[in-house]
Amino acid sequence: MKQLRLDALLSRFGYCSRSEARAWLKAGRVLVSGAPVKSPSDKAVPTNVLVDGEPIEHPHGLLVLLHKPAGLVCTHDEGEGPTIYDILPPRWLQRNPPVTSIGRLDKDTTGVLLLTDLGEIVHRWTSPKHKVPKLYEVTVSAELPPGLVDLFASGTLMLEGEDKPCLPAKLEILGTREARLEITEGRYHQVKRMFASQGCPVVRLHRSRFGEFDLAGLAPGEWRVLATPPDSPR
Ligand code: URA
Repeated sequence: MKQLRLDALLSRFGYCSRSEARAWLKAGRVLVSGAPVKSPSDKAVPTNVLVDGEPIEHPHGLLVLLHKPAGLVCTHDEGEGPTIYDILPPRWLQRNPPVTSIGRLDKDTTGVLLLTDLGEIVHRWTSPKHKVPKLYEVTVSAELPPGLVDLFASGTLMLEGEDKPCLPAKLEILGTREARLEITEGRYHQVKRMFASQGCPVVRLHRSRFGEFDLAGLAPGEWRVLATPPDSPR
């Protein structure tokens, strides 16, 4: 793990701003290898640092699995109403970079949402190149037409305003208005637009899996901190 200047370290992990760090150090709140340190330019490995007697939280970066409830938006913009960040620990947002969702779910969509402060993971898990499968449980308001499984699997479905067809997607029909869809992309409102393009407006959307992660044991609004992947940058 890399050494960081103490002012940068306190800011990186959300304790205080770089400019506030001097006062934190002066007050003796920060120990490195058990001894108080006074200079913000001194360097330390995060796992050797105690702040107010406690180890640095999540020094390898944060990866979180949230069961997103309905009614919250996935944005850092406070102006758009209640957000998923309102239900997470405030210090996670003060990290630098802040914890942010890996892709987004619509306000009315529920289910698996991953969040991280590791930019490399966001890129790797949202890029269509990496084909991370995402599984959705879908309810629509009109009868699902015949031929939908083949159409979605064909890789020819064009969505309005786009110049490339959707990648092949696996559709399982569960009932006349219910289905399960696996996609490997994350286009804007993709699942709703795929069904709407065939005359079937989506009335309920729940993501039950993202890659290897599902909601086992998590009620809506609950989250679990996951181990960061061993090959993620530290
Ligand atoms: N597709 C959508 O249309 N909405 C979501 O929230 C996720 C995928």
